Amino acid sequence: MIPPSPVNAAPAPGRPRPPAAPGGGDGPQALPDPGSLQDLYWPPVHPFESLDPELVRFVAAPPPARAALLARLRADPEAHGRFLHDHLATLYAHSLGYRDGPAAHAPDDDLEIALYAARTRLEHEFLTYGCSPAPVPDLRGQEAAADHLEALAADNPGASHPLFRFLATDATREQIEYFLRCELIRNEVVDDEVALLVVGLQGHQKAVAASNLWDECGRGRLENFHTYWLRRQLGSSAGWEALASYRRDHPWFAKPTSNLFAALLLRPARVQAAYGCFLVFESWVEPHFTLLLEGMTRVGIHDDDMRVYYTAHTRIDPRHSQDLCDGLRAQRPRLTPREVRAALNGAHLAVDTGVRQYDSILRHLETMGPRGVPAPQAGDH
Ligand SMILES: [Fe+2]
Ligand SMILES: [Fe+2]
Repeated sequence: MIPPSPVNAAPAPGRPRPPAAPGGGDGPQALPDPGSLQDLYWPPVHPFESLDPELVRFVAAPPPARAALLARLRADPEAHGRFLHDHLATLYAHSLGYRDGPAAHAPDDDLEIALYAARTRLEHEFLTYGCSPAPVPDLRGQEAAADHLEALAADNPGASHPLFRFLATDATREQIEYFLRCELIRNEVVDDEVALLVVGLQGHQKAVAASNLWDECGRGRLENFHTYWLRRQLGSSAGWEALASYRRDHPWFAKPTSNLFAALLLRPARVQAAYGCFLVFESWVEPHFTLLLEGMTRVGIHDDDMRVYYTAHTRIDPRHSQDLCDGLRAQRPRLTPREVRAALNGAHLAVDTGVRQYDSILRHLETMGPRGVPAPQAGDH
C-alpha cells in the first residue's frame, strides 16, 4: 500500500497551506476554485419536490398488489427494468440522505417506514429476477476466495466489454459526452458508498475500506476529493444546473450498478457481498478509463478539467482493487464459509449487472441520433 503522501496530508486546523506540488501523491496539482465549485451542493440535484405517482401507488399498495404488479412487469424486461431501477434510485437518494430524497429535511416516520418496505421489496425483485450471476465456485477459505477474485478481476466479461473498445475507436464526440455524463452520475456519491462499506467490516477489510474512503476524500484536501474532479468536469454553476435539470431524462439502464452496490451496502447480511462487488468495480476502472481516455483524445477532448477524474483513477484504482484482494486474504478474524460465499456472490453479481448495463449503454449509443441532450463539456466552463 502506498503510504499517505505529505502533499495530501490533512492541514493543521486554521493553518493555510501552500499549493500542492505537481505529481505529488495520487492527486493532480491543486488548482484555485475559479467558479466557486466548492459552493455547489453535491451531488448536483435539486431539492425534493414530489414523488413519482407510480412510486406513490406502489408504496401505498398492499403486498399482494405489489407482488401482482411486479409479476406482470416481468413479462416485459424493459418495463420491469425501468420500474425497478428508476424507483430504487429514488429510494436510495432517500436512504443516503441527499436533498432530492423525500424526508431529507424532517423525519417522517410513517412515510419512511413505507419507503423502507417498498425498497426492500424492490431489492428482492431486482436480486431475484433482475440478476443471473455465474455460479459461484465452492471455496470455503478466504485465501482461495482472494485468489479467485484476483483472477476474476483480471479477466471477466465486464473488464473487456466491447463498449469500451467502441468508445476508444468508433464513438463520436457526442456519444463520448453522453457516456461521460453517465459516468459522472454513476460515480458522484462513491465516497458515501465507500463510507457505508466501512460499516460492519472488521480488521484488514475495514482498514482497506477506510483507506479507500480517505483517498475518496482527497486525504483531507477539498480540491483532491474525487468528487471535486467531477465538479471540475461540470465546470461552473451553469454546468451544475444543466446536469441537475437533465436527471429526469437519465436512462434507467445506466443505474443498475449503482443500485446493486446500494442494495448490498444497506443490508446487514450483505456486508461481504458489497465488499466483493466493490472489488470488481474497482478492478474495472483502469482498463475502462484507459480506453475512454483514448476515445476522448481521438475526438478532441483534451481539457484537463474533463480528463482529470479519469487520468487520476487509472493510477489509483489498480492499487485499490489489489488492496481489497489483500485485505480479504489477510482478514482476521477469519471469514466464515458463509461470509466467503457472500463475498464471491457479490463479485459475480457485479460482473453480471455490469455486463447488462454496458450492453444496454452500447446498444443505446449505437442507436443515438445525431442530436441528443447536450452533455457537460469543456466549452461550458
Ligand atoms: Fe475515486
Ligand atoms: Fe477507488
